[in-house]
Amino acid sequence: MRIPLIAGNWKMNLTRAECVDLAKAVADGVGNATNYEAAVFPPSLYVDAVAGVLKGSKVAWGTQNMVAEGPGAFTGEICAPMLLDLGCTYVILGHSERRTLYGETDEIVNKKTKAALAAGLKPIVCVGELLAERQSGKTDEIIRKQFSGSLAGLSEAEFGKVVIAYEPVWAIGTGLTATPQQAEEVHAGLRKLIAERYNDTLSQTTRILYGGSVKPSNAAELLSQPNVDGALVGGASLKAADFLGIAAGVK
Ligand code: 13P
Repeated sequence: MRIPLIAGNWKMNLTRAECVDLAKAVADGVGNATNYEAAVFPPSLYVDAVAGVLKGSKVAWGTQNMVAEGPGAFTGEICAPMLLDLGCTYVILGHSERRTLYGETDEIVNKKTKAALAAGLKPIVCVGELLAERQSGKTDEIIRKQFSGSLAGLSEAEFGKVVIAYEPVWAIGTGLTATPQQAEEVHAGLRKLIAERYNDTLSQTTRILYGGSVKPSNAAELLSQPNVDGALVGGASLKAADFLGIAAGVK
């Protein structure tokens, strides 16, 4: 049984005070829900403030990135022990914005994933194709390559802590959403890759989230797909009502 995860990636938005207010509203709205898990990913500088609000609530938190190295002389970066210090459960790794704007390769994402797992964090590892790749029929190939590279060399026990997020790059922040069928097809393909590399049990227990213009109006249909186990939400997670509206789409 896979408990859906509704995750809010706040990206580089909001002030400290706005983060605190949003976290409070999300925690209030989630209440004691047991049919899904919720997690939020504020800008790193504000994670501590948000953690103060969320402690004791059902909402988990994490950061949007970290490096594999450290602690040490890595100016401007944050590392796993710091995330643990702030009570983070999750860390988002390999988001397409990190890949395209900051040159993160599958190899880098893989190093980070291993470091996160070694520290006891649960990585949410993102994969997804560009529009040109989808249009030229390369979606499967790209997803397979990112899966193999970003998640290389993990033991079964390690892989068991990983959450995968399928975020087609063309659907991120564009208002274009993958159709439920397009999402389902990629998610089912990912599950097959897990079964091929590990086994059916791990394939059936791994959570695979969809991300890319998820909003209250399309969440229920996406979340009702058999292989869609939650959502990684960007823009709509900045408003508590929208984030909670998406969570309400979980059956
Ligand atoms: P949007 O929901 O704004 O499209 O962003 C998706 C995303 O990148 C979440 O990580």
